Amino acid sequence: MPQGRVLLINNSGFGAYGRFPEPNLGEQLEMADVNMRAVLHLTGLLLPELKRRGGAIMNIASTAAFQPTPYLATYGATKAFLLHWSVALGEELRGSGVQVLAVCPGPTATGFSQRAGLKPGQLAEGPRMTSEDVVMASYRALAAGKSIVIPGAKNRFLAGLAALTPKPLAARIAGRVIAGSRLPPEQR
Ligand SMILES: NC(=O)c1ccc[n+]([C@@H]2O[C@H](COP(=O)([O-])OP(=O)(O)OC[C@H]3O[C@@H](n4cnc5c(N)ncnc54)[C@H](OP(=O)(O)O)[C@@H]3O)[C@@H](O)[C@H]2O)c1
Repeated sequence: MPQGRVLLINNSGFGAYGRFPEPNLGEQLEMADVNMRAVLHLTGLLLPELKRRGGAIMNIASTAAFQPTPYLATYGATKAFLLHWSVALGEELRGSGVQVLAVCPGPTATGFSQRAGLKPGQLAEGPRMTSEDVVMASYRALAAGKSIVIPGAKNRFLAGLAALTPKPLAARIAGRVIAGSRLPPEQR
């Protein structure tokens, strides 16, 4: 029987720019399946093994979790779900030997933006973080026993501000930023 601690990383996920249900309802439902349902499914299947051997679950949410995100409405809501669910699950598992970390990256240089129909790096001024930066911050947070990590000082500041802003106002601001970040259709 396999031994040793288990690390489950629920990383798969995607977004798609548009007014709901653009680009189409099938893609919206697939997003809910990949970003949420698959996480519940995999975690549910592996939890007995995690409890037996000890270990950790890292769920890759997003700074999109901290405010409503017009034009990425479903995406942001799936990440808000993941953030809250992860922290609640971590609390349920306190003392069980299984730790849960919600990772909330801001704009990061991967294939995500192109797939989502967004201009790279437009959702926050300045250079995007690298995946390596995000991974290192996540492992450090896991070692420190944290339940949430927002890699990058600017991302932490903006997410903190968004969380404190009344939701309708935060949605208004986020909608303007996201609308200005749309990748022209000919570049998709
Ligand atoms: N990059 C960012 O700016 C950013 C910011 C915040 C959060 N995130 C989150 O970070 C995670 C990783 O994304 P990434 O930035 O590395 O983007 P990425 O380069 O586009 O990678 C997306 C990952 O999700 C998988 N995936 C996408 N659609 C899928 C589907 N329909 N079924 C199964 N798997 C699917 C992909 O698998 P294949 O390679 O097999 O297609 C790939 O492993 C996602 O959860 C994303 O929401 C990204």
